[in-house]
Amino acid sequence: MLVSAKEMLIKAKEGHYAVGQFNINNLEWTKAILLTAQEMNSPVILGVSEGAGKYMCGYKTIVGMVEGMIEGLGITVPVALHLDHGSYEGALKCIEAGFSSVMFDGSHYPIEENIEKTKELVRITGEKGISLEAEVGSIGGEEDGVIGAGECADPDECKMIADLGVTMLAAGIGNIHGKYPANWAGLSFETLDAIQQKTGAMPLVLHGGTGIPAEMIKKAIDLGVSKINVNTECQLAFAAATREYIEAGKDLSGKGFDPRKLLAPGTEAIKATVREKIELFGSANKA
Ligand code: 13P
Repeated sequence: MLVSAKEMLIKAKEGHYAVGQFNINNLEWTKAILLTAQEMNSPVILGVSEGAGKYMCGYKTIVGMVEGMIEGLGITVPVALHLDHGSYEGALKCIEAGFSSVMFDGSHYPIEENIEKTKELVRITGEKGISLEAEVGSIGGEEDGVIGAGECADPDECKMIADLGVTMLAAGIGNIHGKYPANWAGLSFETLDAIQQKTGAMPLVLHGGTGIPAEMIKKAIDLGVSKINVNTECQLAFAAATREYIEAGKDLSGKGFDPRKLLAPGTEAIKATVREKIELFGSANKA
């Protein structure tokens, strides 16, 4: 059964660790993440962007796949199925389809409009026991064609949104999606500290987990980050392992062209990446 992310994130904040959100793209991705979370006895959040939702033939298809897999693979650790960077309409569609968690990213709206729309979704998700993530201060980099500048959120605006009753809050602290450029200034711990002081017990979310050095991740967790999103790193690991398989000519030998064989090294590479992150985030054995 899918669960809201609320309980796992409150426990993470109290216990000074973070739960990973790993974005999914297809069956292999989902299977790799679920099996690894189970093996490590860790709670997990499966993230779905609106683009990935379309790619996987709609939110209902995804709910069916994930619920079926939880049963079929005997997954017993807490699993939340979460819309990543959702629009207001996208959030409503996911709630309808059976997601257990949604993000409404209103960071590109003026703060008043972000507040209005977030407030409405606090009411709707609250009635259904679904967790809600809100965002203040856009996260840089490119995701699904949306390019943000990687700004630092205003701590007072963060407090305004946190006080609406959201479950968790994503705040820009100089983080960006995708690979970090060589001249990246790093995370702004000053901003993170100010946000955490204003928002108290609210679990904070760090987007753009790919490529952030381990020391910065640990410091961010110390300063109140309880959920960390990782997407690109699994994609890079999958692509590299698949390239290696093809370049070694393995698809040309025997039945190496069988998708169950062809996609196996990439799937194992996702598992290894997720394992490494769960260890770093400290959520192993916290299920
Ligand atoms: P990365 O692709 O940089 O890991 O970011 C993932 C993310 O923040 C999804 O919302």
